[in-house]
Amino acid sequence: MNVQMTIPEAGPRVATAPLLDIAGLRVAYRGLAGWTQVVRGVDLSLAPGRTLVLLGESGSGKSVTLRAIPGLLREEGARVEGHVRVGGQDVTTLPPAELLKLRGGRVGFIFQEPMTALDPVFRIGDQIAETIVQHRGVSWRAAMATARELFDLVQIPSAERRLKAYPNELSGGLRQRAMIAMAMSCEPELLLADEPTTALDATVQIQVLLLLREIQRERGTAMVFVTHDLGVAAEIADEVAVMYAGRIVERGGAEQVLLYPRHPYTRALTNCVVQGSYRDQRLGELSGAPPDVSRLPPGCSFAPRCPARAEDCLRHEPDFRSLAPGHDAACLHPSGPSADPSSRPGVPAGSPKGH
Ligand SMILES: Nc1ncnc2c1ncn2[C@@H]1O[C@H](COP(=O)(O)OP(=O)(O)OP(=O)(O)O)[C@@H](O)[C@H]1O
Ligand SMILES: [Mg+2]
Repeated sequence: MNVQMTIPEAGPRVATAPLLDIAGLRVAYRGLAGWTQVVRGVDLSLAPGRTLVLLGESGSGKSVTLRAIPGLLREEGARVEGHVRVGGQDVTTLPPAELLKLRGGRVGFIFQEPMTALDPVFRIGDQIAETIVQHRGVSWRAAMATARELFDLVQIPSAERRLKAYPNELSGGLRQRAMIAMAMSCEPELLLADEPTTALDATVQIQVLLLLREIQRERGTAMVFVTHDLGVAAEIADEVAVMYAGRIVERGGAEQVLLYPRHPYTRALTNCVVQGSYRDQRLGELSGAPPDVSRLPPGCSFAPRCPARAEDCLRHEPDFRSLAPGHDAACLHPSGPSADPSSRPGVPAGSPKGH
């Protein structure tokens, strides 16, 4: 996807109670060889209205972390430890009925594949209206009117006709818009999006992404957005968290992390993108393969691929530490702050902020 590197200004940090607060999240799945820890202690918080992008190679635990937020892992038989709080409610201990209220109420979910959320045998308008009736307790007529407004919001042309369509009668881009309408139908405070544009053509991807950003800003919805695509991250993120082997290895403001990365993994990711311009650059083009989380080496899990590896990296798993206000990394030897990102190999001159 060809999105210009236009990182939004981080803005002043205001002390607001977090809408989302994840503390010590650990997730394990049982396989043939016993339990495998796929998320290994994630801490994250997000203030209302902010957008956090989760970046990382395939298998790093982004989707599992995202699915833990509305308690979806309970249905998968995963072992979950730690706490996830949304608006102060602890999702990990919420009774099933309350959890259902949370999903599609306070929290909306946009998947990569719309058919995960849309039922092929019901008309789209009916599905959205049904959700609205369930969560808001309004009449069918009022719910249908809201569904119509939502179709306008997500810019689905000929809304009246499309509301009556079955999901399979719409193009991929329109189906994705319909799912965004569905996710927004209960005016969520928190929107969770797992690679919502990846399956679409490049031009449609950009349209959907810009639309999502516009709706999110207009309505003040907070968002956690998972992507492989640094162009997308730069376009949409206020904050970025980079995951590697089930842990967050670097996090901070979008500009700090994407332009002044301090963890060797983030530096490698951003360099490999920049060298070939942003077009269709995805993560996963580093040398070496992501590790098998069931057989992690001792010490830092990135050490085997790390160009800055020192001897102690093979022995100690680094804790998170603060590098600058609001910028942390889990690395024993983070690189120094670079004054000018364009002096870093591969970073195009004049890319960020100035637009
Ligand atoms: N339901 C499941 N049962 C067993 N293992 C799972 C399950 N879901 C995910 N995993 C494992 O957890 C790890 C993290 O998976 P996850 O889907 O979160 O990765 P990801 O970062 O989203 O990757 P991608 O970018 O490919 O979507 C992987 O090793 C995956 O195989
Ligand atoms: Mg995923």
